[in-house]
Amino acid sequence: MESILSEWVNLVLRWAHIITGIAWIGSSFLFMWLDSHLEKPDPPRRNVEGELWMTHSGGFYVVEKMDLAPEEVPRTLHWFKWEAAWTWITGFLLLCLMYYYGAEIYLIDRAVADLSRPEAIAIGLALLAGSWFVYDALYKSPLRHRGVLVECLGFGLLILVAYGLTHVFSARGAYMHIGAMLGTIMVANVWMIIIPAQQKLVDATKAGTALDARLAFNAKQRSVHNNYMTLPVIFIMISSHYPSTFGHEHAWAVLIVVFIAGALVRHWFNLRNAGRSRFWPIPASVVLILAVVYASLPGGTMTAEDEDADPVTFAEAYDIVARRCVSCHAAKPSDENFDVPPKNVVFDTAEQIRDQAPKIRAVAVLTRTMPVGNETEMTDEERRILGRWIAEGAEIE
Ligand code: HEC
Repeated sequence: MESILSEWVNLVLRWAHIITGIAWIGSSFLFMWLDSHLEKPDPPRRNVEGELWMTHSGGFYVVEKMDLAPEEVPRTLHWFKWEAAWTWITGFLLLCLMYYYGAEIYLIDRAVADLSRPEAIAIGLALLAGSWFVYDALYKSPLRHRGVLVECLGFGLLILVAYGLTHVFSARGAYMHIGAMLGTIMVANVWMIIIPAQQKLVDATKAGTALDARLAFNAKQRSVHNNYMTLPVIFIMISSHYPSTFGHEHAWAVLIVVFIAGALVRHWFNLRNAGRSRFWPIPASVVLILAVVYASLPGGTMTAEDEDADPVTFAEAYDIVARRCVSCHAAKPSDENFDVPPKNVVFDTAEQIRDQAPKIRAVAVLTRTMPVGNETEMTDEERRILGRWIAEGAEIE
């Protein structure tokens, strides 16, 4: 019963996370689009930087962008911050459910590091909090004015974290924590830097005083970061469906390259929105993705030695699956974490194993995403034998 309940909680949290995420990213996309399509009013009006007419759902919308808050504002001034907060809250709860409550399954991989559950959770939480302090300190230090240098430093830190985490957590747990870390930084940017700066802008306008240029600089810099992190973070959030990404031998490098590819696509949008359309970021991004695809293709799975050896019998393959997979993937799993077979994948009969041979190859031979967290301690030798049985035609005679 417990696993059915946790599946429903998981579904509801994930659903809410996606909805709030769409609301957050959607509003930021809309504002970026607005910004790029504003036209200077003719004749000029005081404080009006640009204006824009739109039609949608049977009405007309007139938007004016002002460089100062207008002297007379309508009763309600809308702030866009709750979408970000709720995306974080739902995401954090989902992380707790999947990776902390389910730490033994999704977060800890004893072949990577022999962590206890409290240790793994402590590392995860320390990363989320600690990364914000490091990031914030870096971009509050005088270094923040050294454009290229500080961005290289920031990106270098990201590479370090990606490398380090994949040597502490299961690859999947590491990926999700990098996504959660970047998401946390983005939300903290909104709440701790961008919104307070806007609040001061409103106050300064009301009081007729000048705005602190430092605040404006920081807010701008953090928005640019959020902008470039958006698409890579979305990739990380969906990556757990794709074992070729986090299941790769150098999972951290795959993450970094796809991160850059996503940021390049964002750059293309940005240039276009700024009226400086350039095409190059798209082919550059495609080349990076192709490079990762190439790097994730399997090499020859059969060595000369394998070719000479006797074919692997079904009995040998069955034995491995029975020992390493069936505790979870059975109609009635014996593993205490599962009341029902995960993803409905069942290996009770010879036919079920044969029919799912390509899937088995993908998750247990080419990548090592199964058994999850290598819970059943499958060896490399067993992966090789299973791979040979499949390469030889997955016969069950
Ligand atoms: C400790 C339990 C456990 C063991 C042991 C285990 N799995 Fe899984 N398996 C899971 C879970 C959990 C999922 C669902 C993962 C997810 O949420 O994406 C899964 C999913 C799968 C999938 C579906 C992947 C997809 O995304 O569609 C396949 C195929 C699979 N396992 C094969 C295997 C094979 C082959 C073995 C043995 C080598 C194995 N599993 C051992 C728990 C286990």
